[in-house]
Amino acid sequence: MDAVPMSFVRYVDLTIDGKSVRVPEGTTLLQACQSAGIETPTLCYAENLTPVNVCRVCVVEVEGARTLVPSCSRPAEPGMVVHTDSERVRHSRRLVFELLGSSVDLSTADPKYLADMARYEAVPERFDTGDATGHGAKATVQQPVKIDNELYVRDYSKCVLCYKCVEACGTDAQNTFAIAVAGRGFHATIATEFETPLPDSACVYCGNCIGVCPTGALMFKSEHDMREAGTWDESKQAVTDTICPYCGVGCTVQLHVQDNSIVRVTSPHDHDVTEGHLCIKGRFGFQFVQNR
Ligand code: SF4
Ligand code: SF4
Ligand code: FES
Repeated sequence: MDAVPMSFVRYVDLTIDGKSVRVPEGTTLLQACQSAGIETPTLCYAENLTPVNVCRVCVVEVEGARTLVPSCSRPAEPGMVVHTDSERVRHSRRLVFELLGSSVDLSTADPKYLADMARYEAVPERFDTGDATGHGAKATVQQPVKIDNELYVRDYSKCVLCYKCVEACGTDAQNTFAIAVAGRGFHATIATEFETPLPDSACVYCGNCIGVCPTGALMFKSEHDMREAGTWDESKQAVTDTICPYCGVGCTVQLHVQDNSIVRVTSPHDHDVTEGHLCIKGRFGFQFVQNR
């Protein structure tokens, strides 16, 4: 679409943490905070997905509003007075981090997510009330890893139910709808239809769900196997941008290479063709390089 002529852009003036901020109409509070240099934690939000507002990590306080509002989806309005670092905001963010982390294994989570948790001094163990034999948090962590194909594994003991994979599988990228949230409470989980194994489901193995998962719950089988063998070492990996060789779209792919072997393939989230999404060939069709 052609860019909107500057003269037609309307601006909104608001105040964030005492600073006057001017942003184009339609800008979210999260984007307004970013433009003012204010760092805001997010979890279910991603630039390449539609906000689903399920985590509430990004909440801010708007004067006159009864409740805290999710900044990732709330548009800036003229005259808003926003506080991002009040006691109420800090308390809420900390509690949300603790509840989200209370029932999951965060050992492979995105370092940015872990840094945000540390910034708010979140102690998820405070809410780990399950017992080792049955109900509650421990039961979630005890789920075995689902390994039912050669391309990627699903370890829902690491899932914080951010819905990003569901969005990527649905209208935001793949339009396959192979996965959705099933169950309620501690039994809520991401599932295929009738919990069928992936090879029997609608999954087309694009791996776009892996590309957005913030915790490593969805992982290349190659990475999973190397982690199990104790050989996965990101400090030894080089990441090289190149173009997928399979078709004329020419997606940019990033090859993660360790010990002269491709171990994972991603695409930059800010790339204007892929937006981080690939198809099965670009994502997983790399074995021929090292298995001639
Ligand atoms: S690999 Fe692609 S099709 Fe399969 S569940 Fe993930 S996003 Fe959906
Ligand atoms: S599997 Fe990953 S992307 Fe999907 S809901 Fe769980 S944490 Fe989020
Ligand atoms: S990041 Fe805004 S609600 Fe999750």
